[in-house]
Amino acid sequence: MYFIETKSLTKSFGDLVAVNDISFSVEKGEIFGFLGPNGAGKSTTMMIFTTLLKPTSGKALIAGFDVTKDAKQVRENIGFVQQETTVDEYLTGRENLLLQAKLNHIPKNEINQRIDEVLELIELSDKQDQAVVTYSGGMRKRLDIAGGLLHHPKVLFLDEPTVGLDIQTRRKIWQYIKKIHVEFEMTIFVTTHYMEEADSLCDRIGIMDHGKIQVIDTPENMKNALGNEIISLVVDGSNNNNSFLEELKKIEFIKKINEDDLKLTLFTSNGTEVIPKIFQISSKLDIKINSISLTQPTLDDVFISYTGHEIRDDDSKYNRRREHAKMKRLRQ
Ligand SMILES: Nc1ncnc2c1ncn2[C@@H]1O[C@H](COP(=O)(O)OP(=O)(O)OP(=O)(O)O)[C@@H](O)[C@H]1O
Ligand SMILES: [Mg+2]
Repeated sequence: MYFIETKSLTKSFGDLVAVNDISFSVEKGEIFGFLGPNGAGKSTTMMIFTTLLKPTSGKALIAGFDVTKDAKQVRENIGFVQQETTVDEYLTGRENLLLQAKLNHIPKNEINQRIDEVLELIELSDKQDQAVVTYSGGMRKRLDIAGGLLHHPKVLFLDEPTVGLDIQTRRKIWQYIKKIHVEFEMTIFVTTHYMEEADSLCDRIGIMDHGKIQVIDTPENMKNALGNEIISLVVDGSNNNNSFLEELKKIEFIKKINEDDLKLTLFTSNGTEVIPKIFQISSKLDIKINSISLTQPTLDDVFISYTGHEIRDDDSKYNRRREHAKMKRLRQ
């Protein structure tokens, strides 16, 4: 069964088409991700799925319910962790969850046990009675995620769950998301502009750019579709390397060689077969290889190949927005 299904979903803001005719489906139990740069239309799509925005045209079903016609049922079946944290800084962690539990109409006699359960899952039990103002960014995000789990939703929506956090904290949050996925058997839809995040978390990824889904596939298939591996090697400078280069070019699988002083980058297929051949040639010509490594293409390479540009890690924009939101809260 599909837990997310869209047909020709479109959202325009005046002349701007933020989400442009997208159709895809996500199966029960999948972790599905939208990978795309700032302004790609990720949050807009998620706001439609979570009934906070109405589509201009097209259809979206969540857990079998139509986001326009059955908005109430959709809301009962989803958890939504927004891009900006929504926790109240002047309440404790536990008080925030209590508020959230009441908003979600969780039966009174179950509230405490549910809160204990999610606090344990995201490992905040020992900090639950401290005011959130003392929490780090990562802890706030974890509390936010915990709030989205209290009512045991079927589908969890996470909008850029780790944006603005350092890489260690990000990895930690990925672990929690994976744990939630297993323990609650949840379908998870996540948006991100971090390659590594999409790669680490998602069963399948849709690459989104300018409101369109450019491609949907597993991270593995996407990387393999490029069909190349990269061999980097550094040679000793004491011998003449020209004949070495000429011989390397003759190896059948090598498609391109970039030369940067003593560092050679070989774009190739069948890398594991090519490496022994490189050593044969180097020993024949008495060339010393100081280092050699074989790497797989990354999702960065994939992203560029589908969109024609690099993904931008525009955290500065995010931080500005976060400051703005904070100022607004303080003025209230
Ligand atoms: N309420 C709105 N009114 C007008 N334009 C909007 C509105 N919300 C979003 N947009 C525009 O729609 C486009 C998609 O925005 P969206 O927030 O969905 O992108 P995103 O992929 O989530 O980007 P980010 O990585 O910055 O969060 C952008 O050009 C944005 O400026
Ligand atoms: Mg967004």
